[in-house]
This record gives sequence, structure tokens and C-alpha cells, in this order.
Amino acid sequence: MTVLDILRYPDSRLHTVAKPVAVVDDAIRGLVADMAETMYEAPGIGLAATQVNVHLRVIVLDVSEARNDLKVFINPEIQQSSAESKVYEEGCLSVPGIYDEVERPDRVTVRALDLCGTPFTIEADGVLAVCIQHEIDHLNGKVFVQYLSRLKQSRIKSKFSKQDRAAA
Ligand code: NI
Repeated sequence: MTVLDILRYPDSRLHTVAKPVAVVDDAIRGLVADMAETMYEAPGIGLAATQVNVHLRVIVLDVSEARNDLKVFINPEIQQSSAESKVYEEGCLSVPGIYDEVERPDRVTVRALDLCGTPFTIEADGVLAVCIQHEIDHLNGKVFVQYLSRLKQSRIKSKFSKQDRAAA
């Protein structure tokens, strides 16, 4: 397993729309293993393939306290969203150090493929629902800061651009 590099906002590659996985094969299972390693090492509670510059519809997450409940979603699709929404403070491994409130549907029903390519459906609420929606957004080229005001977005963008120039 390999720890992969995570793209950082405002890297334009984070806005790539990921393609569906055609076949769940050993290459995909290897990608999932590397993504899980990268997420645990960061540490984070979720990671989309987009964030490691692989533009396939794969996400991994683990919202458990003990960090022993890896969930893998291949080609995830939200089938149903609750009318009720909830505000959570979100963060992102691609936007380190930035946390802000985002409002999303409170409950979602998600259909995806597992590591054997078998379809499954889960109903999620709370932090799991937030995390799934956040990661599916990544696959659609959307970073959570895009839900914030234009002013906040431009502040975050200039903060990260400055850091990147300083590091160069
Ligand atoms: Ni994220």
C-alpha cells in the first residue's frame, strides 16, 4: 500500500468530473487500498479518488471513533435525499485548516458497488450522510468551500496561493 499525494485547493484538477468505474478489478482494489492508507495517514474521515488525482468514481470513508470501519463506495449515487437539512462544520484534506458550516440534506439513500462489484444500498444520516455527500461532490468536481460566500472563497484561495508560493 502506498500513501498518495493529496491535491490541494485551489488546484484546478479538483474540479475534474470523475468517470464511472467500468469493472471492479484488482487495479481498483489496489487504488482503494492506497486511498484508505492515505486517508488514515492524513488523518481524515473521507477521501475521494479525485483528491489523489485519479478521476474515477471511488470514495473511501471511516467515520468511526476507533478508525476500524472502512466503507468503500464505487460509482456511488444518491437515490434519495431527505427534505430536512442540517448544518455541519465541514473540513477537507484538500483544504487543510479550513472548517466552515455547510447545509445539506440530513439523510440520504446511496447505491454503490462494493469491492466485489456487487451493488448495495445504504441509508445514512448524521456525519456519515454529510461525509458521503461531501465525497460525492468531489467526484463531481466540487470542493466544499464552493458552498461558502464568494468573499470567503476568495480569502481561502488567496491564503492557499500565498502558502504555495512560499513553499515553492
Ligand atoms: Ni474533501
